[in-house]
Amino acid sequence: MSDQRFYVTTPIYYVNDIPHIGHAYTTVTADALARWHRLLGEEVFFLTGTDEHGLKVQRAAEERGVTPQEHADATSARFRETWDLLDISYDDYIRTTEPRHAAAVQTLLTRCYENGHIYKDTYAGLYCVACEAYYTADELIDGTDCPIHLRPVEELEEENWFFRLSAFEQPLLDLYTARPEAIHPDGKRNEALGLIRQGLKDVSISRTSISWGIPVPWDPDHVFYVWYDALINYATAVGYGADPDRFAAWWPHVHHIIGKDILRFHCVYWPAMLLAAGEAAPHEIDVHGFLLVGGEKMSKTRLNQIFPADLVEDFGVDGFRFHFLRDATFGPDGDFSYEAMVARYNTDLANNLGNLLARVATVVAKKCDGIGPAPTPDSPLAAVAAEVVAETSAAWAAVAPSVALEATWRLLREANAHLEAHEPWKMDPGPAVEAVLGDALEVLRLVAVLASPAIPNTTAEVWRRIGLAGGPADRPLAEVAPWGGYPGGLPVEKGAPLFPRISLPEA
Ligand code: MSP
Repeated sequence: MSDQRFYVTTPIYYVNDIPHIGHAYTTVTADALARWHRLLGEEVFFLTGTDEHGLKVQRAAEERGVTPQEHADATSARFRETWDLLDISYDDYIRTTEPRHAAAVQTLLTRCYENGHIYKDTYAGLYCVACEAYYTADELIDGTDCPIHLRPVEELEEENWFFRLSAFEQPLLDLYTARPEAIHPDGKRNEALGLIRQGLKDVSISRTSISWGIPVPWDPDHVFYVWYDALINYATAVGYGADPDRFAAWWPHVHHIIGKDILRFHCVYWPAMLLAAGEAAPHEIDVHGFLLVGGEKMSKTRLNQIFPADLVEDFGVDGFRFHFLRDATFGPDGDFSYEAMVARYNTDLANNLGNLLARVATVVAKKCDGIGPAPTPDSPLAAVAAEVVAETSAAWAAVAPSVALEATWRLLREANAHLEAHEPWKMDPGPAVEAVLGDALEVLRLVAVLASPAIPNTTAEVWRRIGLAGGPADRPLAEVAPWGGYPGGLPVEKGAPLFPRISLPEA
């Protein structure tokens, strides 16, 4: 049963910041994966949401002169609006201030406590509020600054509840040795293994210095430190502690999509917490690199953030989604470039896809009275199509969207070359021209299916224009992938350019 289920998550985003293209990159990737697995016919549950507790949010609210809840409500809504703008097909949107989440956090951490993995001690340390994390002196830049935010850390001393992370060093090593595929790509797994092999110290999981959090049920002067509250969202959303059957159906078959900044929390702390609570570790953690702007990570303090709505205005929703999926290789860091985005849009979307549809529709109108002919069973494109379906599927399975789209686009390039070779626009009406056009229409049908997770709107439009009913993702891939699915005899519509070409603004 679990093979047929696919549970995919994004990190839950802090409500101290507004959504920028770094957040969007993770969320679009998770969305495309969710859509791909729905296309395979699997039962999919796609979760995103917002992380609303902690000092960072408390302070952001204070700066604005509102309550933390008011601040969280407003910013959480902005994330949701952005995801709606980008056609993110999430099934649930979790907010850590919801009662269902407080209940799950208290249940899971109480289990850890009852299992002997949580104890009380005093903690003095160097704390970065932006990370909501303690650092050791040797981890700091110049002995004073947080290595991520390049800002001074603060000295904090508190009586805390501690999680016995040290007890999970060997279990985690065993886990990742037994299932190396649990962390992907390989470089990120090695990084996680390195962290574990360096030795794991117990970590403080509660605070008394702030009140904006979920109370520790056995010691209500404390609230749980935001990360231990936040990670549990993935369990809350599938019914942890509330609906055991539902939880058992979805857990641990989860795929966490995260950025490399939160690898330690997801690959070390979270599995350890689950093991401590008597649950299984997550099935797979997929870690991507940073999207850099001018070589630096985007951040509010560096004033280098780019917002999705601004790019959607220029490129459309699908142009936006395509760029981040096609150009950002999953794993390494990549620099955002507007020029590269324009180039990709013009080459792959306006030319390869848009022009193929426009050309085919024009010639069908001229030579076939606007009625699309059926493909030929022995077309040379049939073999290419079979390879492309296999390569595209393998790449999505390996969480490599850029490779998947590259594979899919090979079919478009071959179809364009096939048209160039036969020049149907110069042929007389009849079976020969029909064969060439039918094959091209079949390619458009298949590409609409294969690219639907990335560009759901335009692929639906391609589908409609070539006369097909419903949408490209309505039926499972296995049913629609074989060559020859375009029935012929359908009206083909030219319509406005799918992707009008974009010129770079004058410098
Ligand atoms: N709230 C925590 C996550 C808790 S998950 C249980 C958090 N939130 S965050 O708002 O800072 O978002 C982190 C995630 O946003 C990163 O892991 C990454 O997926 C995405 N990104 C934010 N900035 C990014 C870039 N510049 N580049 C790529 N991804 C980025 O950490």
